Amino acid sequence: PRKIIIDTDPGQDDAVAILLALGSPELEILGMVALAGNVPLALTEKNTRKICELAGRPDIPVYAGAVRPLVRTLVTAEHVHGETGLNGPALPEPTMPLQEKHGVDFIVDTLMREEPGTVTLCTLGALTDVAMALARKPEIAPRIKEIVMMGGGFFEGGNITPTAEFNIYIDAHAAEVVFASGIPITMMPLDVTHKALSSPERIAAIRALGTKVGEATATMLEFYERFDVDKYGSRGGPLHDPCVIAYLIQSELFSGRHCNVEIETRSELTYGMTVVDWWGVTDRKKNATVMREIDPDGFYKLLVERLGRL
Ligand code: BDR
Ligand code: CA
Repeated sequence: PRKIIIDTDPGQDDAVAILLALGSPELEILGMVALAGNVPLALTEKNTRKICELAGRPDIPVYAGAVRPLVRTLVTAEHVHGETGLNGPALPEPTMPLQEKHGVDFIVDTLMREEPGTVTLCTLGALTDVAMALARKPEIAPRIKEIVMMGGGFFEGGNITPTAEFNIYIDAHAAEVVFASGIPITMMPLDVTHKALSSPERIAAIRALGTKVGEATATMLEFYERFDVDKYGSRGGPLHDPCVIAYLIQSELFSGRHCNVEIETRSELTYGMTVVDWWGVTDRKKNATVMREIDPDGFYKLLVERLGRL
């Protein structure tokens, strides 16, 4: 199996991504790091443990990472995810422990211990922990197999400002560090994730699994999709973060292009924008594979099947 570290800020869509990973034998989860994002760290780390316990996996080590972005103050998204970050199902308080080691140290130590080129970082939130790990131990950069991230948007625009996607926006300075690091990056932007929408039929298929995980996931998605349905008249809620995990299991569901991506950090108007040179109009170095298309039916089929294994 492919070794991964999940860095996350649950978040219902993060939770579904974690469940998809836990249900997939192709992946070996070395640990999860929660950081501040959708809601503050005290909630995201607890939510991460709740999801592990829901899946019957209290053995997965969960660490706490960054409390705040590198430079700016934290912006959260309770308007999307609710006060707890995981509004919807009534999940019990977790009993599994939060690991004592700091999440950034866990990332550094794991990468220094494992064979170079074998560990993939899956980032489902801001890039703060990865940027901190690179600052703490630059030698980790060439040892990382790949970073597969949910973040950015280009043709589709932004979701927190007209030009910025939330994960990049909340710590654009960290994103700038990561995109300049030379580490292979695969990016799942809004251009992809806005095509991975939930719908009443898709949620019904998850509920029809008839399991605890199926019921909790369906309830989570019903809460989560109300934001996009009410605000934008969308057909459902975008399953952003699960696209990262689906890509690792079935990459043929996605297509995109290897190109240059730079992060805007200086302009107030477009702060946090991912400037994608899709057409190759500059000679700037290609540093990321930017996905643009997804097979949404194939994606949901995979999701339902894997949730059914938990
Ligand atoms: C991203 O922001 C968060 O609210 C979601 O969990 C996802 O990671 C989408 O912009
Ligand atoms: Ca997230």
